[in-house]
Amino acid sequence: MRKKIVAGNWKMNKDYVGAQQLLTQLLSYTNNNPLPCEVHIAPPSLYAMMAKDLLENGKVTVLTQDVSEHNQGAYTGEISVEMLKSIGVQGSLVGHSERRQFHGETDAHCAVKVKKLLEAGLTPIYCNGETLEQRKSGAHFDVVKNQTEVALFGLSAEEIKKVIIAYEPVWAIGTGETASPEQAQEIHAHIRQLLSQKYGNDVAQEISILYGGSVKPENAKEIFSQKDIDGGLIGGAALKIEDFSKIIEAFG
Ligand code: 13P
Repeated sequence: MRKKIVAGNWKMNKDYVGAQQLLTQLLSYTNNNPLPCEVHIAPPSLYAMMAKDLLENGKVTVLTQDVSEHNQGAYTGEISVEMLKSIGVQGSLVGHSERRQFHGETDAHCAVKVKKLLEAGLTPIYCNGETLEQRKSGAHFDVVKNQTEVALFGLSAEEIKKVIIAYEPVWAIGTGETASPEQAQEIHAHIRQLLSQKYGNDVAQEISILYGGSVKPENAKEIFSQKDIDGGLIGGAALKIEDFSKIIEAFG
């Protein structure tokens, strides 16, 4: 059974006080309302410990936005899987398009990060998606296929069942331009088909595939109602509790 998930990616937003406020609002909302889906957040790593402390025993899963591919040592600025685990963080995004665009992250890096997270018992949310040029040239199906194969297909069936995939077309991120529900569904079905060919239908049916890219309270319900869309990875709209809560309720 695929899990329904709404995950918030805060990106590089909020100072300490702002983060504390949003976490407190999130705790109050999630404690006082029935949740129709799992709720995950990925604040800046600096606030992960505070998030874990504030949300302790709550219903929200705390993730980070990235993790190092290295175990430990002389890697200035990096944070390891074991460090995340030691403070109770439950997983991390991997391969977000902004990491690919601004930090040279490739699917080969993603493969290592995904594997390390799984070995530590943490959850990877693996992000993929095509650029505008790739979509315009009709290469989007192949791009997503290649990304998925390189980053994930070295995993065993037992491992891949623990991965969450987030399809995030780059042209829809932070632009206000959302993929239509049909465009998103088409790629989600494509990814599930690839998973099914490689691991069998039973495994493919257990993997949650989220959509990300300008999800808002106004469009969440229609996007989430698509057959192969199991939730959303939310950027801008995760920064305001009013919007984030409405997106969660889009599953209701
Ligand atoms: P926006 O929701 O701001 O478009 O960002 C999506 C995203 O990149 C989530 O990871």
